[in-house]
Amino acid sequence: MDLMLSGKSVFVAAASKGLGKAVALQYAREGARLTIASRSLERLAQARDEIKAETGVEAALLQMDASAGEDIRNAIRTAAAASDGLDVLITNAGGPKGGFFSDMADEDWLGGFELNLLSTIRMIREALPFMKTAGEGRIVNLTSTSIKQPIDGLILSNVFRSGVNALTKSLATELAKDGILVNTVAPGRIGTDRIAELDGKRALEQGRAVEDIQAEAAKQIPLGRMGTPEEFARHVVFYGSFANTYVTGQSLLVDGGMVKSI
Ligand SMILES: NC(=O)c1ccc[n+]([C@@H]2O[C@H](COP(=O)([O-])OP(=O)(O)OC[C@H]3O[C@@H](n4cnc5c(N)ncnc54)[C@H](OP(=O)(O)O)[C@@H]3O)[C@@H](O)[C@H]2O)c1
Repeated sequence: MDLMLSGKSVFVAAASKGLGKAVALQYAREGARLTIASRSLERLAQARDEIKAETGVEAALLQMDASAGEDIRNAIRTAAAASDGLDVLITNAGGPKGGFFSDMADEDWLGGFELNLLSTIRMIREALPFMKTAGEGRIVNLTSTSIKQPIDGLILSNVFRSGVNALTKSLATELAKDGILVNTVAPGRIGTDRIAELDGKRALEQGRAVEDIQAEAAKQIPLGRMGTPEEFARHVVFYGSFANTYVTGQSLLVDGGMVKSI
């Protein structure tokens, strides 16, 4: 299937490693023009080199802390200016602080809001004028299965990613007339540094071996294993492609069947 991404201008946030990098690589394989952004130019340069070695596509790099409104404004405007507009936006950021309700002070709530909900709002606000001018666009918001089933000990994710999901649904309606399709793709357990860190933290808290924690988690997944970043990325790139012409306002869980809600 032709995803109709050749030559399209694609911006992937938080793409120096993990899910964002895998999504960027997949867009490069489809022949898109790519901008990748995150806090560390050094890590971004490493991602750019890996993507170029495999696909020949040289991504533009932009330093952007997703918690900083000014960074987002500069990054999206710079990317659009360099690529004659912006066709696809993938919103993403680092994970919020882990913990339960009793662990969180006001600054934690504000930090989670800025990193995971306000960042999405800001990126979309900056991207929209370019998409509206083009008369089409695709936005995919990366979240978590916490949008369907709260995850114990990740209360900030549960609350703010549900906000992103509500935003997705609202914008799908508001932006349909402009040819802009907006969806959410939610990872379950996909093998990245983030999951390794969370597993390590749980193992330490519970005084157990990491392998034990991982085996227990795999048992909760009908497909019996973690997903790979590439498996995740393929779904994001379809939703965020111009082969997708009739799916908007949806949230897709890429979780090996882990969440049981209907
Ligand atoms: N992997 C999973 O199974 C899974 C499941 C549910 C949810 N998620 C969520 O998906 C997102 C990506 O996770 P991942 O697994 O890809 O994690 P990861 O491998 O740790 O990568 C995180 C990426 O986010 C960037 N980043 C972190 N903080 C940032 C910030 N403030 N501004 C801009 N970029 C930032 C990092 O780059 P720099 O360090 O260069 O900034 C890096 O490229 C996270 O929000 C995570 O909570 C992941």
